Amino acid sequence: MLDNRKVLFSGMQATGNLTLGNYLGALKNWVSLSDEYDCFYCVVDEHSITVRQDPGVLRKRARALLTLYIGAGLDPEKNCLYYQSHVSAHAELAWILNCFTYMGELNRMTQFKDKAEKHSDNINAGLYTYPVLMAADILLFQSDIVPVGSDQKQHIEITRDIAERFNNLYGDVFTIPEPYFGKTGARIMSLQEPEKKMSKSDENPNASIYLMDSPDDVLRKCKRAVTDSIGEIRYCEEQPGLRNLIDIYGACMEKSPAEVEKEFAGKGYGDFKLAVAEAVNSVLRPLHEEVARLEKDKAYIDSVIKNNAERAAYAANKTLRKVQKKVGFPERVR
Ligand code: TYM
Repeated sequence: MLDNRKVLFSGMQATGNLTLGNYLGALKNWVSLSDEYDCFYCVVDEHSITVRQDPGVLRKRARALLTLYIGAGLDPEKNCLYYQSHVSAHAELAWILNCFTYMGELNRMTQFKDKAEKHSDNINAGLYTYPVLMAADILLFQSDIVPVGSDQKQHIEITRDIAERFNNLYGDVFTIPEPYFGKTGARIMSLQEPEKKMSKSDENPNASIYLMDSPDDVLRKCKRAVTDSIGEIRYCEEQPGLRNLIDIYGACMEKSPAEVEKEFAGKGYGDFKLAVAEAVNSVLRPLHEEVARLEKDKAYIDSVIKNNAERAAYAANKTLRKVQKKVGFPERVR
């Protein structure tokens, strides 16, 4: 740890095209919390191979994601931005924690069930033990908080259970992490089927706004978004499509649902959809500009990758050595 600040850890997979859900549910909060905490933001490429990847594409996407972290406003001098695969302690701790995780617990994970259904030709052991690697990510850094979207809630709960189990056996080894969900945007839904979460892997291209979408794409998708029949800008259960658009607008403009309702009282869906598109574009525009600028600076990105991996490995190895000692591995001979 650099100082006495509390520790924050989070990560994202470099698979598919990132969506507005990834930004509003996670990345945006990462930026706003980054001054307050000692932060580790990881590109979790080891998690990505639980689903088959094209190696060249994965490598490209991992770099694009790290560039996006910086483009979104995470300063690599102040925050540790790195690839999971560059810090071997992740995989080493995951192995140990596998031996402290019950199959019954993993059987309850809803994301495993969903992914196993989607990838029924490749239900590999990594997909099953995915939450254990995630627990290792978080516990390696003695993290106090983990900002995520609400779909990751169950994974944070199992992380806490594993950490508590280990601490009960061996003393206070791990900090017990708390999840952090933003006030708005923790669950952005599909624009076409608002009962489903917005997802990178949705086959309907109109269902998700991608972070690299052009302003015209955003406008078209917002105009086509499913709304309901009440005809009023009102935040309620009966209008899941509209409620999602209010969440998106509110998260982009830092407004509560009540404030959005007030702003659009008496207006129709058409006007509101145009305003949502403009709000989204006002967030994406500076992101696009920053990423385009950074992509030209290869040497800078390379130096970030190298320096931050070393910083992360140093912090992670401290915990790993402690854990190895606790479970009874022989001391290294110097
Ligand atoms: P991933 O890559 O699927 O998503 C990255 C982050 O984006 C959030 N998110 C959303 N938030 C709101 N609405 C949505 N529609 C939406 N879709 C995605 C996710 O909640 C997440 O915060 N298992 C993790 C990656 C991971 C991780 C970790 C996270 C690996 N190790 C340790 C935190 C700590 C995942 O697959 O996220």
